Amino acid sequence: MIKNTENGYGLVAIILHWLMAITLFSLFGLGLYMVELTYYDAWYKGSLDLHKNIGMTLFVVLMLRIVWRLVNTTPKNSDKSASSVEIKAAHYAHIALYALMLVLMLTGYLISTADGRAIDVFGLMQVPAFPFNFANQEDIAGSIHEILAWTLILLSLGHALAALKHHFINKNNTLLRMIKPSHE
Ligand code: HEM
Ligand code: HEM
Repeated sequence: MIKNTENGYGLVAIILHWLMAITLFSLFGLGLYMVELTYYDAWYKGSLDLHKNIGMTLFVVLMLRIVWRLVNTTPKNSDKSASSVEIKAAHYAHIALYALMLVLMLTGYLISTADGRAIDVFGLMQVPAFPFNFANQEDIAGSIHEILAWTLILLSLGHALAALKHHFINKNNTLLRMIKPSHE
């Protein structure tokens, strides 16, 4: 139930998947909203701090998820009628989603520490600034962060559509396997 098997996802992978998906969509919405605020809006600083705090926490969760994936079995493809192109596309889409999450968080860190100051995460720990700041770091990292955030959300929507297609059109257990651990 806890770990993955060849036939299905375990509880840890399922919880990490949905916890991160919900948080990523929320951070995306919060990000788009907060950059429209001005210094005089009551929630200007609060929204930015919340975005950074949750983002940095999510980085820790992502590291745990990657380690968990590496030490675990990855379930075999559940759609017996899938072509080899479809199987490869799903595999590379998953790798791309991981890479996008990682680089998105790293660019977020680079924007936030461009002035050389550490990030204070929920008042619990200080994440120091990168010691080698580069010219226009805030603008460059900010533009990449925005593009990657959109790319991640669009790719994850395509990924969600593929999951729904498997469920409603192909009528196999691809989506159910990511909802409930079952290993038959
Ligand atoms: C370590 C994690 C993260 C940190 C430290 C961080 C930090 C930041 C900062 C400082 C900004 C403001 C940029 C500006 O003022 O122009 C920003 C914008 C934004 N962030 Fe993040 N972020 C992180 C993760 C994420 C994640 C996981 C998402 C999810 C998709 C995300 C989505 C966005 C979006 C959509 C914007 C608005 C971009 C724009 O329209 O200019 N961020 N982030
Ligand atoms: C930002 C949002 C999302 C991200 C970053 C994401 C990422 C991933 C990744 C990396 C995997 C590979 C397995 C793993 O390592 O856990 C995966 C699997 C899966 N995801 Fe998502 N996902 C997101 C949203 C969704 C949504 C909204 C749905 C459904 C409507 C969904 C359905 C699935 C299914 C069914 C699998 C299993 C696929 C298989 O067995 O080959 N995901 N997801």
